Amino acid sequence: MHSRITGMFTGVMFKKRFGSLPRIFRAPGRVNLIGEHTDYNDGYVMPAAVGFSTYVGISPRSDRKLIIHSEEFPGNFEFDLDSLPEKRIGAWCDYVLGVASVLQQQGNKLAGANLLVHGEIPIGAGLSSSAALEVSSALALLSLSETHLPLPEVAKLCRLAENSFVGARVGIMDQFVSCMGKAGHAFFLDCRSLEFKFVPIPAGLQFVVCNTMVKHDLATGAYNTRREECEEGVRAFAKWDPAIRALRDVSIQMLDQHANDLPATIWKRCSHVVRENQRTLDAARALTAGDLTEVGKLMRESHNSLRDLYEVSCRELDIMVDAADSLPGFCGGRMTGGGFGGCTVNLVRGENAEDFAKQIAERYRQATGIQPQVYLCTAEDGAQALDLS
Ligand code: GLA
Repeated sequence: MHSRITGMFTGVMFKKRFGSLPRIFRAPGRVNLIGEHTDYNDGYVMPAAVGFSTYVGISPRSDRKLIIHSEEFPGNFEFDLDSLPEKRIGAWCDYVLGVASVLQQQGNKLAGANLLVHGEIPIGAGLSSSAALEVSSALALLSLSETHLPLPEVAKLCRLAENSFVGARVGIMDQFVSCMGKAGHAFFLDCRSLEFKFVPIPAGLQFVVCNTMVKHDLATGAYNTRREECEEGVRAFAKWDPAIRALRDVSIQMLDQHANDLPATIWKRCSHVVRENQRTLDAARALTAGDLTEVGKLMRESHNSLRDLYEVSCRELDIMVDAADSLPGFCGGRMTGGGFGGCTVNLVRGENAEDFAKQIAERYRQATGIQPQVYLCTAEDGAQALDLS
């Protein structure tokens, strides 16, 4: 219902701006329940799509221009499809441009178009506003071309756009869950084979997502450094066992065996990834069995590991995670997404969720002086074309 109303609103704004009625596409943001910094190590992740989305309205033009506009984000952009920039220009429209550019490189014939973007996902909060913009733009641009791409292929091309055009070496998690998420379910993904399964979220459980208000948008450099550190780890392990292609292939036993053979920082990074993969497998099993105590324990371990071994947390995230402890209805929580700011995700019993939100906000405000934003969410469906007829 909410997405239909927002879709209609986007349509009205589009008509006002461009004078015609558009087709509208929606792609959601996500929270990641567990499996952090594992996707680009060929590992496991378990995110869920949530109720915040990016909407893109599109209509064809008779020339080769791509006009990109948004009511929320600054700037009116106009490009020629035959001479798109080769790299990011440093504006929000890079995510749209990147997708258009990769689609063309892959041989798709794109038509000139007017696009209007309506974004409701908080930016820089680690809830994947970028992936949602990429996916909704890809669906919109594809709708005017002759190509039909299955959603997993859309996810792959959006990731490629972010890697090659925007320059962030992200993994596949965000784009995949934005495409494939399912209401009421977490999405367990093997990032090597891209096999996935839906894990039902126990009835009555809510996600309470707490925004530290510390923006993580300066994090691209540190994110890419973490990737390089993982690659260094893989090169070392591959010397001891040539079958190792990614940290996914390293066992906990092998990791412990080589604790003193790797530079300390590299070992810490590897240690996080190898154990986080195991935690994600365990958490999927525990969630399936409805064992929320175990899920909560694993989420806490994940957070501690991201804080101490992977070193992508920050003071505010740690305070927000600690602030959840002992609140009624709390089942588990941790930082979510790339880190260095952004949000924590908490699993909370539905009847306690509103009180939980108030109390955690107060505890955080007292400890930091920052007023956080707190969102009550559930797992929602992935990307779709909206039928507004
Ligand atoms: C960002 C990236 C994802 C993933 C997470 C960390 O959200 O886009 O691919 O690597 O960080 O788990």
